[in-house]
Amino acid sequence: MRKQFICGNWKMFKDLVETAELINGLKTEVSSLNPKVTVAVCPPFTSLAIAANLLKDSTIRIGAQNMSPHDEGACTGEISWRMLKSVGCEYVILGHSERRQFFGETNELINEKAKKALANGLKPIVCVGETLDQREKGVTTQIITTQIKGVLDGIGSSDLGNVTIAYEPVWAIGTGKNATPLQAQEVHQGIRKLIGQLYNWSVAESIVIQYGGSVKPENAKDLLAQDDIDGALVGGACLKPDSFLAIISAAKS
Ligand code: 13P
Repeated sequence: MRKQFICGNWKMFKDLVETAELINGLKTEVSSLNPKVTVAVCPPFTSLAIAANLLKDSTIRIGAQNMSPHDEGACTGEISWRMLKSVGCEYVILGHSERRQFFGETNELINEKAKKALANGLKPIVCVGETLDQREKGVTTQIITTQIKGVLDGIGSSDLGNVTIAYEPVWAIGTGKNATPLQAQEVHQGIRKLIGQLYNWSVAESIVIQYGGSVKPENAKDLLAQDDIDGALVGGACLKPDSFLAIISAAKS
């Protein structure tokens, strides 16, 4: 049985004071909720150290929202895997659609980053998803297939256990308009089938595939009840303890 994985992507929200407030609001409650669910938070880089410090004795894991494909060097503004590990990160979100859309990230670059993360003991959460235009043109499957093949290129089956895939339809992100449970399940099932073809069925059965895009306490239970939806990557609703905790308790355990 795959363990459900609920992860909060804080995006560019929360200064240090707000970070402490949110973490403190989560950490006492999380241990009493759904112990069978993996929970992680991905604050902005500037908040990682304080979040990790506050979560020292907690089951909540920490992730970053991006990472350089390089080890170190003259890369102004970039953050390396070593820096992320030194502040206590276990996960790193890669290829979020906002990075693809606004920062020109390609499948090749995301693949390079994913390989660098895996080689150095960080677990990538790789994001894929179609735009509204692509969905309306009926090319969702082709887009997702190209993205999955691209971002996983050269990653062996032994490493895939440390990879999480997040299906985040671009039209559902920050719009309040989530994919219906059936729309999401259809894509998740397709992704699992593709992983089965690219690797083997046991790898496909064990890989965790999260859904992301306007996940809220009101829709989480129905989305997370789907056979191939193994968790959620939550944006807006992870910024308040109550709504994030409600989503965690909606996960099947
Ligand atoms: P929202 O939950 O705000 O739609 O954001 C989803 C997302 O992009 C998570 O990575």
